[in-house]
Amino acid sequence: MRIIEAQDYQEMSRKAAGIIFAQVIMKPDCVLGLATGSSPIGTYRQLVEWYNQGDIDFSQVKTLNLDEYKGLSPDNPQSYYYFMYENLFKHININLRNTNIPNGLEDDTRKECARYDQVIAALGGVSLQLLGLGNNGHIGFNEPDVNFKKTTHCVTLAQSTIDANARFFNSPDEIPKHAYTMGIGSIMGAGKILVIVSGEGKAGILKEVIEGPITPSVPASILQLHKDVTIVADKAALSQLTK
Ligand code: F6R
Repeated sequence: MRIIEAQDYQEMSRKAAGIIFAQVIMKPDCVLGLATGSSPIGTYRQLVEWYNQGDIDFSQVKTLNLDEYKGLSPDNPQSYYYFMYENLFKHININLRNTNIPNGLEDDTRKECARYDQVIAALGGVSLQLLGLGNNGHIGFNEPDVNFKKTTHCVTLAQSTIDANARFFNSPDEIPKHAYTMGIGSIMGAGKILVIVSGEGKAGILKEVIEGPITPSVPASILQLHKDVTIVADKAALSQLTK
């Protein structure tokens, strides 16, 4: 695992955006695996800025998002489709037909998981996967479990995840309890993985991910086995690592 230290969230975002920029330059028709949440907002903002300056072209880029809440429609402001559209897609020249997110409105879990796995396979996998890190060590919505789940599946969100995401909702009743997520196998199949982590609140779990045992109770710990992982984290998030 390559660890890049940043001073703060802003520098983390710029460094992470630089790595995505390099990927798009190297392979203009690459497949980017994308995440939502607080961590990537600055990264997407930086990419939009470079796009506005004419430095980066997304016209051939394809994207695969990690996850989506079950039961939310794309036009629901809390859906991950909405997040991606508002924070990235509407600002750049990506072809929306080349963007992929699990369909939160599909009730038939088995059908939607099979469909999304086919989408991933048809794109030939992910060139560069961007990941945030959950407070409980989740990646995508692969929650702590007794085993690693390989393919797309529907999860019951951990209470800690529901609590962490409550800040985006008006009332606790609105928070979905289930979500579709890409599996650990698909994430580990990416050519390169880029993890962004910010803030003291993530320092303990980041230490476990990097220095602890590989265990499904800390899903991100499996990243220790991937051959090309870059973690861009700010000083606060790296503060508990053994020097
Ligand atoms: C979001 C996702 C999640 C988040 C994680 C961290 O698509 O897959 O794993 O990356 O929960 O969320 P933030 O960045 O909000 O702390």
